[in-house]
Amino acid sequence: MRSLWSMVLLGAFGLSAAAGAQTAKLAATPPMGWNSWNHFAGRVTDKDIRDSADMLVSTGMRDAGYIYVNIDDTWEAGRDPQGNILTNEKFPDMKALTAYVHSKGLKIGLYSSPGPKTCAGFEGSYQHEEQDAKTYADWGFDYLKYDLCGYREIMDKEAGKDQEKAYAMMHAAYTKMDKALKATGRPIVFSLCQYGWDSVWKWGPTVGGNLWRTTGDIQDNYRSMAEIGFSQAGLSKYAAPGHWNDPDMLEVGNGKMTTDEYTTHMTLWAMLAAPLLAGNDLTKMSPADKAILINKDVIAIDQDPLDKQGDRVSAEGPFEVWSKPLKDGSVAVGLFNRGEDTEAMSLPAASALGLKSIKSIHDVWSPGDTTKGPWLIPGHGVELLILR
Ligand code: GLA
Repeated sequence: MRSLWSMVLLGAFGLSAAAGAQTAKLAATPPMGWNSWNHFAGRVTDKDIRDSADMLVSTGMRDAGYIYVNIDDTWEAGRDPQGNILTNEKFPDMKALTAYVHSKGLKIGLYSSPGPKTCAGFEGSYQHEEQDAKTYADWGFDYLKYDLCGYREIMDKEAGKDQEKAYAMMHAAYTKMDKALKATGRPIVFSLCQYGWDSVWKWGPTVGGNLWRTTGDIQDNYRSMAEIGFSQAGLSKYAAPGHWNDPDMLEVGNGKMTTDEYTTHMTLWAMLAAPLLAGNDLTKMSPADKAILINKDVIAIDQDPLDKQGDRVSAEGPFEVWSKPLKDGSVAVGLFNRGEDTEAMSLPAASALGLKSIKSIHDVWSPGDTTKGPWLIPGHGVELLILR
């Protein structure tokens, strides 16, 4: 139980115990939640956000760790005469919406751009950064995705072909919003979205990024997902508590991949310690998609408190082996078959996985299976194992 003294201290500094803990732990593990873009895109409304919050609770996803409900682009209208950002008719009352989401034991996120316009052509935060940050905090937001998009025009205009100057402007634009968010005093996760330009993993932490997109936009097909996911090899050293590589949001459940392909998607994102932001219509989720999103072992691999992103051990033709060390000394191993046909794959030598010997094997997607390999892996499929 919390001591009386710590309660007095927290009270004296005007912090609730929850807010105090949250400040210390902002994105301590990769953020988990849901985002409106991949399914709803420009159609998202207040009701979709409320429905998604309800579904996160009733499906058990909230309790599995999916905490953030994030509104992506297309909520914005223009500005009032004082320059305050306005919401359009799809979002009549942001304060009421954030209160509703908070009442479900969830947190809520919003989207903007350092440019005059967002990617979808709505109002951005250019020259209104401090004012917007204050508005988001006042409305009760806990997370901001900040998408470069319209700022590219400004970079082109002011830096022309001077790439170094353009990059410096981009860094400065993110730093500006980071400072504005911090000045509000509200803990707000800061998500950088600029498609990995200028090797963002090298400077993301210096502009306050809690996560940064490492690539362009994901699409709901195996080619796009695999191209993004497998291209993350070598980035593990840049991930740390509060600072995560973001290979974009999940497409699980959006309908254009097979169950094997969505299982590969979830496995690879967990190996990458990636933010897990579901992007499907939660009101129409199939049992198979729910089983992928809510699997406790795969979530535990993603969120493991050792905080080490996994990386590639080997790539040979269509076969890739990835590993991720876990806090309890065990190692998660993914055997990926990127080919079209079912093929057998075996574990590499224990030493290649940083283990002296392998005492036990837990099969994450088929928990009863006690095979020690080789495993028959369908085309575009995966075998995910925890080795002790
Ligand atoms: C960009 C981002 C996407 C999404 C859209 C919204 O393309 O990368 O994730 O936010 O903008 O317009």
